[in-house]
Amino acid sequence: MADTTPATLEAAIAASPASLREALRETILFAELDDEQLEHIAIAGSVMSLRRGVVLFEEGDEPGEFYLVLSGRVAIAQESADGRESLLAVLGPGELFGEMAFLDGYNRSAQARALEESSVLMVPYEELRRLYEDKPAALWSAVQLLARRLRTTDRALSDTVFLDVMGRTAKRLLDMAGDRDEFEMPLTQEELASMVGASRERVNKAIHAFEKLGWVTHDQRRYKITNRRNLEIRAR
Ligand code: CMP
Repeated sequence: MADTTPATLEAAIAASPASLREALRETILFAELDDEQLEHIAIAGSVMSLRRGVVLFEEGDEPGEFYLVLSGRVAIAQESADGRESLLAVLGPGELFGEMAFLDGYNRSAQARALEESSVLMVPYEELRRLYEDKPAALWSAVQLLARRLRTTDRALSDTVFLDVMGRTAKRLLDMAGDRDEFEMPLTQEELASMVGASRERVNKAIHAFEKLGWVTHDQRRYKITNRRNLEIRAR
């Protein structure tokens, strides 16, 4: 089970039932629920503060709850038999995880760990069960969430076929930047490489090439995109 700390007082106050209700409403899974249903879920949950590196659960663990990211970033990762890691996703505020094991009845499909200081709302599966028994139509949103994940996964799979390491690295840098030109990379070099699906050396080489071309500068984890257009073209 996760080595978590209870929410700090500030986090608990910031996460009042009303603000948690609104955070839940922003998600695909709960967008269609009314205030009362959202309030039920918010009250049943508990807010947890996580230090960087805290593992919420491991792949294969028995499940019992799903999570909503309130702040920070959470990595979803799988490990190969020889201990290498594949980073499947980096989830930020407003994104849910831990719902798949509820829907398919298997154990956890991947590990979840905090990439930086983060807070999450943890909600027991019991609440989902109650919700879907009362309102089966709410399951449509779960279908939508899974279809959206499948689209992203399809895209990532195609990228490994269509794009070379430079293209995939360019794409990941743009993903991490969002619409900002300057950003703090939440991933270590190793984690970035495991997301790109290449060795650390090859990903470093790609970043070095972008620097030489004048598309990116970086100092440790602080990145600046200096030619977004060319980076975007390289990521296609
Ligand atoms: P669960 O299997 O309960 O635990 C691991 C969670 O990681 C899973 O639910 C999903 O919520 C999440 N997850 C698994 N694969 C992906 C993916 N490809 N993209 C985003 N999230 C994922």
